[in-house]
Amino acid sequence: MSTRAFPPGFVWGAATAAYQIEGSPLADGAGPSIWHRFAHTPGRVRDGDTGDVACDHYRRWREDLDLMRDLGLNAYRFSLAWGRLLPEGRGRLNAAGAGFYDRLVDGLLERGIEPMVTLYHWDLPAALDDRGGWLNPDCAGWFAEYAERAYRLLDGRVKRWVTLNEPWVVADGGYLHGVLAPGHRSAFEAAIAARHLLLAHGAAVAAYRAQGRHEIGLVVNLEPKVAASAAAADQAATLRADAYMNRQYLDPVFRGSCPEALREVFGAAWRDWRAEEFTAAGQRLDFLGINYYTRGVTRADPSQWPLGAAPVVQRGSTYTETGWEVWPAALTDVLVRVARDYGDPPIFITENGAAFYDPPVAIDGRVRDPLRVDYLHRHLGAVHDAIAAGVDVRGYFVWSLLDNLEWAHGYSKRFGIVHVDFATQRRTPKDSAQYYRRVAAANALLDPGG
Ligand code: BGC
Repeated sequence: MSTRAFPPGFVWGAATAAYQIEGSPLADGAGPSIWHRFAHTPGRVRDGDTGDVACDHYRRWREDLDLMRDLGLNAYRFSLAWGRLLPEGRGRLNAAGAGFYDRLVDGLLERGIEPMVTLYHWDLPAALDDRGGWLNPDCAGWFAEYAERAYRLLDGRVKRWVTLNEPWVVADGGYLHGVLAPGHRSAFEAAIAARHLLLAHGAAVAAYRAQGRHEIGLVVNLEPKVAASAAAADQAATLRADAYMNRQYLDPVFRGSCPEALREVFGAAWRDWRAEEFTAAGQRLDFLGINYYTRGVTRADPSQWPLGAAPVVQRGSTYTETGWEVWPAALTDVLVRVARDYGDPPIFITENGAAFYDPPVAIDGRVRDPLRVDYLHRHLGAVHDAIAAGVDVRGYFVWSLLDNLEWAHGYSKRFGIVHVDFATQRRTPKDSAQYYRRVAAANALLDPGG
């Protein structure tokens, strides 16, 4: 066995999310989501882009599944659009929407690809937002009701479930800074949304324990924070940033507590969690999904509301098109830290990848993306290092299968290992896809040139 081999049975997948790729958001009786509304509000998404067509995956899914099979992937992480199943968010099930995911799951299994299903990747039904969305204390019940419908439809064929994708982004982008749907800007709302999201997560896990047959977990995005200097103010700012982005979600779920620094961050907007809330959010998980993109070198900056902390650009580092420093070593660090501090859960890397510039049209049927190949190679090396250090990493999902709607950036940022020509919907596997195919086939870290 090569020393750079991954463990036998390692999962090699790609990830996507419904609103980013499906298109046809209102087809066959689906109800609109907050992202449909947000994208159709002038000024919210770059260039006025929307998910109306996206990658047209709703109609081209067979072709996309064939692509994954040809790349040798043995797993696919995707999300259900809540409003396709329950157009009003609750109550009536839309058979046509259920049929779409039914066929998708069967199509994956026919091709030997294991589905991993995310219940919530940011597209709350608009009808529920009209009733307060994640701010309404009833949202945990709504989410559990929807989750039960999804389990009844797909559990057994789907063996791995994810409740929420990145609750931090939902609360921070959607309720604190307002750059993502539903576009609010309030520290009070952000603190409430964060708590309600974790309560909803716990309710969906409890519902799974009552009827599910396989595994369920949570996906968090973790960004190790590193102080820019030894100065006390920078050190304190780094602790706040870490508490806010990383520990705010891990601590309640795995330790039944909240980091003290959150009081400072939220000020008057903070209210302590009750014991029963910790119990509800802290259901046992079968695995933890970690999305990793970058680290954050941090300094104190009182002008930054509400954290009082700001990122510091690192001279000499490579940055992606979304402005994220390429820093693979922090992926190893964060994996080792989670294993040490949070009870050594089984871990999947549920997203990792990078936006770099690719041309809108593939030239001569090829897309050369050496920076993305290098990014994948080095981050897979970091995962391998963590496994060698004893961390229980079970699989890796590259973000993303396809170039897609990068939320408020519209179609301007390309994360895919497969290029999409949005004028023709032609798919072209990039060099990074070819590299990833070779790694998955070998189940080992290979040199890009080799
Ligand atoms: C999200 C994806 C997103 C990616 C790149 C993650 O935060 O889960 O939906 O496209 O990062 O920004």
